[in-house]
Amino acid sequence: MEKSAAKIRIDELRSILWENSRRYYVDNNPAISDYEFDTLMHELEGLEQSFPEFQSPDSPTRKVGSDLDASITENAETLKSGEFVKREHRYPMLSLGNTYSISEVEEFAARADKTLDEDFSYCCELKFDGTAICLTYTKGILTRALTRGDGVQGDDVTENVRRISNIPQKLHGDFPDDLEIRGEILMPYKAFDALNAERADNDEPPFANPRNAASGSLKLSDPDEVAKRGLMCTLYHIPAQSVTFSTHDEALTKAASWGLPVSEDRRICHGIAEVKAFIDHWDIQRKFLPYATDGCVIKINEMQAQRTLGYTAKSPRWAVAYKFKAEQACTELQSISYQVGRTGAVTPVANLAPVQLSGTVVKRATLNNEEQMALLDVRVGDFVYVEKGGEIIPKITGVNLAKRPEEAAKPAFPEVCPDCGTPLVKVDAKWFCPNIDGCPQQIKGRLIHFCGRKAMNILAGEATISQFYDAGLVRCPADLYNLSSYQLLSLEGWQEKSVQRFFESLDETRNVPFESVLFAMGIRFVGETTARSIARHFGSIDAIAAATVEQLLEVDDVGEVIARSVFEYMNDPAHREETERLRAKGIRLAVEEGKGRLSAALEGKTVVISGNFSISRDAMKELITRHGGKNSGSISGKTSFLLAGAKPGPEKIRKCEQLGIPVLSEEAFMALLPEEGPAPTDTMASPAEPVAEQLSLF
Ligand code: IVH
Repeated sequence: MEKSAAKIRIDELRSILWENSRRYYVDNNPAISDYEFDTLMHELEGLEQSFPEFQSPDSPTRKVGSDLDASITENAETLKSGEFVKREHRYPMLSLGNTYSISEVEEFAARADKTLDEDFSYCCELKFDGTAICLTYTKGILTRALTRGDGVQGDDVTENVRRISNIPQKLHGDFPDDLEIRGEILMPYKAFDALNAERADNDEPPFANPRNAASGSLKLSDPDEVAKRGLMCTLYHIPAQSVTFSTHDEALTKAASWGLPVSEDRRICHGIAEVKAFIDHWDIQRKFLPYATDGCVIKINEMQAQRTLGYTAKSPRWAVAYKFKAEQACTELQSISYQVGRTGAVTPVANLAPVQLSGTVVKRATLNNEEQMALLDVRVGDFVYVEKGGEIIPKITGVNLAKRPEEAAKPAFPEVCPDCGTPLVKVDAKWFCPNIDGCPQQIKGRLIHFCGRKAMNILAGEATISQFYDAGLVRCPADLYNLSSYQLLSLEGWQEKSVQRFFESLDETRNVPFESVLFAMGIRFVGETTARSIARHFGSIDAIAAATVEQLLEVDDVGEVIARSVFEYMNDPAHREETERLRAKGIRLAVEEGKGRLSAALEGKTVVISGNFSISRDAMKELITRHGGKNSGSISGKTSFLLAGAKPGPEKIRKCEQLGIPVLSEEAFMALLPEEGPAPTDTMASPAEPVAEQLSLF
């Protein structure tokens, strides 16, 4: 390659790699597959080797990707994430050299053989596909957890990590006084599927894979939310181990004896043949693991040998990662359908000639949106590559151009709604059908959502709703309450028993709490958690309907987009009429007696809670809102006070000291509240004597 052409390509590759590194580590929303990323990185490494005059310390080949600065993320989930304090790593947190080729693993082994005089073995491990974490235990107590960040400094996520159930707060046995240990935070498939199902219910974009879900969850601002995400941890590296242990395996065995989560799926291998057997074994067996792995890590086991081999700027010379290629299939794209969701969003879906992939038959794959279709340049009749790398819905990753039929034409994205014919409108990257009240798919979608398990829990799924809709019986949720046994019995497949069960489930909806009713209404961007916050904050549908956008913005975790959406929904006459019809049917439109406002003692106060209390943290938050206060996850200039229970986060305390924000004990806090009024859910410790000094803080 010419020198000038090489320079152009190097610049191009650096810019593509930095952009995609940001999308991967910061946005949790990768645009290209790991394989494509690694291939481009290898191309850059090759060019920098051939043209050393273009080497630069700022090249992505020399720096690890950075997960810092969550505030610039595009991902709606992490938009909520608080600012984390950044701290320096005691030892730089490096990455691993990686390869997809067994011959490069052989080269790694050959280099080690050549450099090392002494005998050595390999410790082969799984390469866990999550997000890296560095834990510090001081005198056996978990004191700090940092993300990798840019390798030099990471985000302090200690409070969140404390809520991950398999990470011990305290070690036992003969642990050292000062221990730093590194590993991976993972989201098991089960938790990932549940989270994405919930996000789909809530009309939120799904996470692309468990890795993104894990790193997004780790950066949430509310540790209680993190606790619900079902994250787990596995540890694999003690940076200072070479001082204390003679082998890496010994260090991990010791760590496990102190109560730390260390995977047992590792093996000491003597020679490259055993390493290859380990890789072959796990290429198959990993499919039965409950969490994602994307390869094997081969480490030289002896500490003395590790010291001899040392490090490059970016990774150790004593280890290499062999990555498995995501399973791929190639099949014919037979047609493209355009699906209309309950929000009117139109999603292109590829209908494929059925093909086996990772143990299941794949017939459909998402094409996401018009831009993605253009980027892939897919055409009906093409042979396309399909991958399932952890995602629920398989995706198309490329086209086999060699097999493109001559007549294959570029698909035209519809200009009108495929269901009702209304001209589509574009919002950001998505096309929407604006016929909210007349488009059958949207109407049915909203009804299905209303009946959902987490909403009103009515015995009516997709098929039943279509039946009701097609018979002209139901157009909006309130219509469900006007159905008669006679009407149902006249429909195909209905019998006395099923009719009775349906009406029983309908009757039960009168006991559904207001927060679920609000969720069931299907207000755009109002998921289950947001509905709960809004319901608790205002107490009734009437109060919500009377709220201004500014007042809606006062609710915890409600931003501009959600506030506007709720405001518009509530001020639409058709929705008001629907609400009145539901009220007439006895549906709860206010929080239950005894669950509403208790007082205005905390009106205008923004409270951050930290540590453990005599009641659960959720109950404490509820208590704050029921006394008119607002909960917030992080300390800022707007915080009125920090409510500190047992073992509060030291970082929060330090930030309060810095900003001069008062810190109240549970007792002092209780003293601010009027004495009467029941505890929200748990039994509450009786309020202590009022503390005059604390009151004067306001
Ligand atoms: S050892 C000095 N072992 O893969 C390097 N890393 O692509 C210490 N990873 O940054 C890392 N499984 O986040 C190591 N068994 C394992 C691993 C592992 C996953 C991650 C880790 C690392 C990345 C490199």
